[in-house]
Amino acid sequence: MSINYTDKIPNNVELGDDRKLQRALEHWQPRYLDWWQEMGPEGFQTDDIYLRTAVSVDPKGWAQFGHVKMPDYRWGIFLTPQEEGRMVNFGDHKGQPAWNEVPGEYRSTLRRIITVQGDTEPASVEQQRFLGATCPSLYDMRNLFQVNVEEGRHLWAMVYLLHKYFGRDGREEGDALLERRSGDENHPRILGAFNERTPDWLSFFFFTFITDRDGKYQLAALAESGFDPLARTCKFMLTEEAHHLFVGETGIARVLQRTAEVAKKIGTEDPDALRKEGVIDFQTIQKYLNFHYSVTLDLYGSEISTNAANFYTMGLKGRFEETKIDDDHQLKDDTYPVPMQTNGSIGIEDVAAVTAMNERLRDDYEVDVLKGVGRWNKMLEKTGVEARMVLAHKCFNRRVGRFDMGQPDVPHVAPDGRIISEAEWTKRHTEWLPSDGDHAYVASLMGQVKEPGKIANWIAPPRVGIDGKPPLDFEYVRFN
Ligand SMILES: [Fe+2]
Ligand SMILES: [Fe+2]
Repeated sequence: MSINYTDKIPNNVELGDDRKLQRALEHWQPRYLDWWQEMGPEGFQTDDIYLRTAVSVDPKGWAQFGHVKMPDYRWGIFLTPQEEGRMVNFGDHKGQPAWNEVPGEYRSTLRRIITVQGDTEPASVEQQRFLGATCPSLYDMRNLFQVNVEEGRHLWAMVYLLHKYFGRDGREEGDALLERRSGDENHPRILGAFNERTPDWLSFFFFTFITDRDGKYQLAALAESGFDPLARTCKFMLTEEAHHLFVGETGIARVLQRTAEVAKKIGTEDPDALRKEGVIDFQTIQKYLNFHYSVTLDLYGSEISTNAANFYTMGLKGRFEETKIDDDHQLKDDTYPVPMQTNGSIGIEDVAAVTAMNERLRDDYEVDVLKGVGRWNKMLEKTGVEARMVLAHKCFNRRVGRFDMGQPDVPHVAPDGRIISEAEWTKRHTEWLPSDGDHAYVASLMGQVKEPGKIANWIAPPRVGIDGKPPLDFEYVRFN
């Protein structure tokens, strides 16, 4: 399928053949642009940014790089090619041909799933909209905007599905996606973590490492869907998501590397001494990790969930790498271990596997996060410092599910998984989570560095640049 890059809405879904849909999307487009101007990156809308734009789904060359003004970015609609003879691969409909239309009985469930996924995309753009003002380098600023425009494209991807398959209801959902606002008291975004602030670059890197990775796992589960257009849409979104995770992981690695270099130079890892040198102490980095990890774990939902069970038996949302798992893909008699409190500690309860879909996806996600943390620790070891990053227990600082601290009779859990008293929590939680003082310190380091070749003191330079360009000595952003 060929793509006309000069189309108003670049696409590989033959939008031109569906006048009604094209008109609906062209009607939505100016509202999207209004939203982008109002809630997108603040202050850089007239500058030229070195961005990649998706122009096809060819794995060998799906993107084009060049300087563009963000409002002129070509947000397009791309689905991976249809797989001949694809089946529903799990749940009650296993073995039936995959659906190209929405099954009537699942219409509202599917619409909700797509809306919730869609809502996270503009939310993260809103959360990150002030970060350009404090970027540590042009390379980083460019990466921020790249992530932002691609989250915008992910919104397009979900709105396409809503418009094409859900008629008037879908169009209404599409409009509502532009009306909610991250952190707004009256019209908040749907999920908790997407209403938190991303106030500084350390938060941004953790957001892209930790929370975009939740995106990866949600998209991967939806990429298994029996509703084929959703599966194909999510598969392509995952291609872009990989870069967001890269930005996060290498961002944190560079912060750790810089702190480690300074620690070696001054001969101590003492937090105050490191702060005097203008770098972020290891303890603060660890606290940010604890925070972002715990609020993101909540995004997976309750350990035991009938909704999640329904999504699975209906064939709408699968497990991570569903087709690679060696079992019957119906799970009628299977169990899955979920955490529970047993007199004073955290134990395990085996529950019907189909009800534990959220927990299973959360566990798969945890494995992936751990790998990244392990790579950071290897780097720290090489540098010769003592400090290591540790991933908190999955029941630490939770607000959703069995360990929701807001519920009566739910105990507090320390990062190491010990159940602790209210008093210990009150006394020690600022050792585990960023305090106002930590935030203020990190904020004090944030100053804009926007000359090619330069970089802020608190972060190491990137090792490689974007699209073969030099890491620092390149005008990734041209200011107008
Ligand atoms: Fe996204
Ligand atoms: Fe993302």
